[in-house]
Order: sequence, then structure tokens, then C-alpha cells
Amino acid sequence: MDKAKPNTKINPGDYSEAEAKTELARLAKTIAHHNALYHGEDAPEISDAEFDALVRQNAAIEAAFPHLIRPDSPSRQVGSGSGGLQRHFAKQKHAVPMLSLDNAFAADELYEFDKRIHRFLNLPLDVAIAYSVEPKIDGLSVSLRYEGGQLVAGITRGDGSVGEDITANLSNITDIPSTLTECDLAVVEIRGEVYMTRQDFLTLNQQQADIGDKVFANPRNAAAGSLRQKDAGITAKRPLKFFAYGMGEMRDTTPFQTHSAFLLACKNWGHKINPATKTCPDIATALAHYQTILDGRPQFAYDIDGVVYKSDRLDFQKRLGHVSRAPRWAIAHKFPAEQAETRLLDIVIQVGRTGAMTPVAKLDPVTVGGVVVANASLHNEDYIRDKDIRIGDLVVVQRAGDVIPQVLAVNKAGRPNTAKRFIYPDKCPSCNAPAIRPEGEAIRRCSGQMTCPAQLIEGLRHFVSRHAFDIDGFGDKQVQQLHEGGVVHEAADIFKTDAIKEWLDGREGWGEVSIANLVAAIEKRREISLDRLIYALGIRQVGQATALLLARHFGDIETLTKAATDTSPTDTSKAPLIDTTKTSLTSIDQIGESVAQDISDFFATDHNRAALARLLAEITILPPPATATTQSAISGKTLVFTGTLTRMSRAEAKARAEALGAKVSSSVSAKTDFVIIGADAGSKSQKARDLGVATLDEEAWEKLINP
Ligand code: IVH
Repeated sequence: MDKAKPNTKINPGDYSEAEAKTELARLAKTIAHHNALYHGEDAPEISDAEFDALVRQNAAIEAAFPHLIRPDSPSRQVGSGSGGLQRHFAKQKHAVPMLSLDNAFAADELYEFDKRIHRFLNLPLDVAIAYSVEPKIDGLSVSLRYEGGQLVAGITRGDGSVGEDITANLSNITDIPSTLTECDLAVVEIRGEVYMTRQDFLTLNQQQADIGDKVFANPRNAAAGSLRQKDAGITAKRPLKFFAYGMGEMRDTTPFQTHSAFLLACKNWGHKINPATKTCPDIATALAHYQTILDGRPQFAYDIDGVVYKSDRLDFQKRLGHVSRAPRWAIAHKFPAEQAETRLLDIVIQVGRTGAMTPVAKLDPVTVGGVVVANASLHNEDYIRDKDIRIGDLVVVQRAGDVIPQVLAVNKAGRPNTAKRFIYPDKCPSCNAPAIRPEGEAIRRCSGQMTCPAQLIEGLRHFVSRHAFDIDGFGDKQVQQLHEGGVVHEAADIFKTDAIKEWLDGREGWGEVSIANLVAAIEKRREISLDRLIYALGIRQVGQATALLLARHFGDIETLTKAATDTSPTDTSKAPLIDTTKTSLTSIDQIGESVAQDISDFFATDHNRAALARLLAEITILPPPATATTQSAISGKTLVFTGTLTRMSRAEAKARAEALGAKVSSSVSAKTDFVIIGADAGSKSQKARDLGVATLDEEAWEKLINP
């Protein structure tokens, strides 16, 4: 389908009548296409900014040629009003972040989860921990804020910290009361899932088909599309439902001891609680309830994709806290993966930003667990060889949760005579450089580095992506276009907005408004937090969590660069060849040898340092987001734990220290502020004394954190 290509004549007054007519017809078709993709399939091909530009272009031509307005004009669509096709809702920060869940698939992973909690809380294994066990509804999570019992805001999850304000849409859902019955809490945020039953989804699709509108791929997409309507009147007509399953902010106090008591309160306030929810006294009972839910899955009127286990005691939840984006006190036990058979049409090689060449299966599209799958992972060349996967084969495809679908096996009975063995290329398909497979690694890599267009483009895509610079309207397509046009070679070029403006001006697909929007979005990101910058660099193995860790530890990019490149020995008398690069990076608790190596390799490359310097000339770095509590006796201090703590596990002690703004290191140096010494401490306590670092026993440590 022809994509977003407004005519290059920007001023609608420049059109002849015939041109305007043609352009309006094309815009009607294009806008309808993208609108259907967005609302129907939850799979937009163009950015919101590009879409808005199309709608504005349509409106501008209609204003100049009102007699040409088409009966099927986007501006005339039911409920569209002035902005019915806009996709933006006001952004709203969550008072308490909306976390996601870690996934588990096998029973032993759940036993391990339970043991982890015991260890963290320092509880003996024979003291059972109770869990609230609930179906995991396949819908969309939202947060409902009630003040004095009145619904004042309904916000989507968004990225977990900031969502979109869809209060008007949510208040039209029957399951969501606008007033809570007998609730005297100043503030309570109820979180839960908006969903659609399978039957309602089928009926809605029938109605959509009858009026020639786009049908939805599955109930989740139907719920998402229905909720996203700018016109709340449309949402009101859609059969959406809601289950409450959690809490956000609560003021002034939390009058509940357990999660299940909170759920009961939600029920009394007028909310719907999933009837299959059960409080189980221990993990074994929780697993038995999982089985009951799995066996009853076909009887549920709506899609569920697993079971959620939550530590029922809220004081435990508070102590356990969360790692990165998932709580330590909850886990999703996903249902077994769904499988389907289809034909393998081709194998293509994708080159990633680090040069990794990964094989991707192109499949005859097949529905696996409600989602159409056309591409699947083939992992690496050994996998294809070991499983003897050939082009033309009938293959088994598996989709498990949010994981990328994968080709599991070949159904040899379905192998045609024409099936072809795949010859793994020894050259990069993008730049033709030799593809090298290092000893002991499963992945072949393109050796072209900065001369390989695929690596450069993937690197730039990563740079502008959501968790990195997050430049609105700067997606895969724009990266490709600007790179191929020779305007953006490297990250720093993204900020050369004059050159970008000049190059885009008059180009197909770009109007005055869309260029101005893109430039504004870029300008907005000239200020960027240090953790996002580090993540955006695309260093191997450095994801968001590690980037945040590095940002908090080093505080600025110069110190990080220095730590990563400084290989001068510290104490030449004892060990002249000690590599302080690794010692200083790995002194951060969660950074292991291999990650440290990748970080130092990145900064050791001249090209990377030069490109970073060029980028730094364009941007201003802001400090990383602070930890929850920064003002405490230990905020900004570096601590080392050694020996066994008796009243608190090492993990909990570390989490408490970090929550109070301290850094936890694994080795003692002159920079250490305190060493906390537990029972049977060894050389670290001696080293602390040698270096004159303050030491604390367990009692003093507890006083320090509970003043
Ligand atoms: S609890 C911190 N409970 O699953 C706890 N989530 O993978 C966060 N979901 O974003 C969520 N049913 O959209 C929870 N009973 C349930 C759920 C549930 C569905 C979804 C929710 C969340 C996602 C996490």
C-alpha cells in the first residue's frame, strides 16, 4: 500500500482543481489504511506525527477546495470532529510506577522464585509464604485514581512511568465505577486490566465487517483499539470490561495488611475481582491452583495467558521491592507455548548493530495463539544445521508469551523434493565484508564495523528508539531515508537539524509541518539523561538496567570513559599487570567480567570515542533519575558488605542501601565510605582497617538505615 506521501506542493492553494481532487482521494485512502492498521491491528506503519501531518494536509486542501470534500473524507468520519483521528492523549506521570512482571514457564522456576523470596527475607524454608494466585488477563493495564472516592483520572500503563490520560474513555466502561462505595481514603489508585470477551470480540468484528470497517486480529487488539479512540463516545459503545488486580498510590495510609484484603476492599467499593483468584498458603498450593486455572482455560470467557503469583503480605512486598522494572514479590507463570505448522518460504540474514548475522525464517503466515506469524527466529547457523531445516520444509513454529516466535522443528513427512539446504553466507549481505565466527561463539559477525550500512542503520535505530533518545517521529523509516540520503551517518548528525531540514525540504512524504515536527522532536532531546545516553550508545550487553547502574555509579560520561579506558596499573610493586579497567568496572556489584570487557572494548575503539565526542558537542547531559530516596545518612556513599548478616539477607541489605541512595561495591578501596562487617568476615574487613575505612557491625548498620 502506498504509504504517507503527501504531494510535495505544500501550499494547497498551489493545487489545480484536478490535482486537489486526486490528492484528496489519495489521502482518504491512505488515512483510512493507516487508521485501520493503528486501531485494528495495533501495528502502525507510520509514526503519530506522520499520521497527523496527513490529516492536516487533508484538512488544508479541503479548506481551499470545500466543494471537493468527499463523502468518505477522513474529516467526516463519525465522531472524528476536529481531532477524531488524532492519536495523542495528554501524557500523565504515574504517582507510583506501573511495573511489569518477570515470566516463568516451568514448576521448578516457581519453586526457585519462592526460595529467592525466602532468602531475601531471611526466612527459613519451612516458614510458608502465602501467595495470591490470579489469572493473567490478556488485555491492557490501566491505573484508576480515586480521590475521596471519586474517579479523577484513568491512565494507560505507557512506559510504566508515564502513561496517557484516557479518563473520559475509561469512565464509560460499566465495570469501572466513577464513585467508590463507602471509600474514605484520600487517594487510592486501583490498577487492573481492560479486556474484551471472545464472544464480544466476534460480535464486534461481525459488526465491523458489516459496515465495511477493519476487523481486529484478536480480543486484545480489539480492546486496545476501542480504548484508544479519541472520541470517548465510540469507546462507550464497545463491550469493554475491567478486572481490578493491584494498587498504586494510597493516601494517607495503607489500611491493608494483605493484597487479598485490598482486593476484597475493591470488591466492596464496587469493582470486579477475578473470581478465579485464590489466596494460597504456600507455593505448592499456588502451583496446584495454576493447574486448575490451566485446565479451566477453555471455560474462561476471555483470553488468559498465564497465572500471576503475588506475595500476599504487603509488608513483604514493601521489603522485597523491585529490580529494574519487575517486582521481586510477583511473577507470571505463563501457559505452555502455542505451536502451529507452516511452510518455510525463505531464510534471510539480518545484520544487527553489533554485526551479529542472525537467520530469520520467512514463513507462510500462520496464526499461532491468536497472532499471525510471518517471521520467526532460527537462532544461528548451528541450529539450522543440527535441526536440518531446509527452505521449503514444513516447520513447527512456537510462540511463547512475548518472546519472538521461533522455528522449533521440521516435520520431515512434509518435506518436498524441492526443499533446499541453506548455505550460510560467509560475507555480510549488507556490505560484503567477511563474516567471522570467533572461536567458541555461535554467532557469525560482519567484520565491516563502521563501513557496514546495516550496522550503522541498526545502531542509529537503536539510538533513536524508545528507551534511548526516544525521538518522536524518528523511526526505522526515517533513519533509513536520512542515512541513505547521506545526511545522517552517525548519531551526532541527528542533531544537525539545519542539514536535515534542507535535505527533507520538498522531498516526497515530507511537508512543512512534518519537517517542523521532526525538528522540534529532535531539539527536545538535546538534553538527555546520562543513563539514556549510555544505553543509546549500543554497547554490547549494556541494556537499560546496566546503563542506569553505570550512570549512577560514575555520575558523568567522562568518568565512565576514563574507568573503561584507564589500564594503568595501580600498585606496580605487587602486580604490574593488573588491569584496573576491569577492576573499576567490575567493582560495581552487578557488572561481571564479560560485560566489563564489552564496555572497555567499546571505549577502547578510537572511532567510538571520536563519534562520542562529536555527539557530546551537540547535546547536554542531565543526571540519571535519582533513586527513590536520596537524602539519607548513606546517600551518595559507597558501601561494601562482608561476612554473614544474621538479621537480613545480603540481597535485602543491598536493596535497602541502594534505596537510600548508596552504592554497593564488592571490593574495598580508599574510595569506600563504610564496610559493614557480618559474622566470619575475612580479608575485606582487614583491608578496611588497613586503609582506614570506617567499619560498622550489623547493629550499627541497622541503626544507620532505621534512624
Ligand atoms: S500484576 C507489579 N496481575 O500483565 C505487578 N498483572 O506482564 C504488575 N496482567 O502489565 C502487574 N493480569 O497488564 C498483574 N492479575 C494480574 C494481571 C496482570 C494481567 C498484565 C498487566 C501487566 C502485565 C505484566
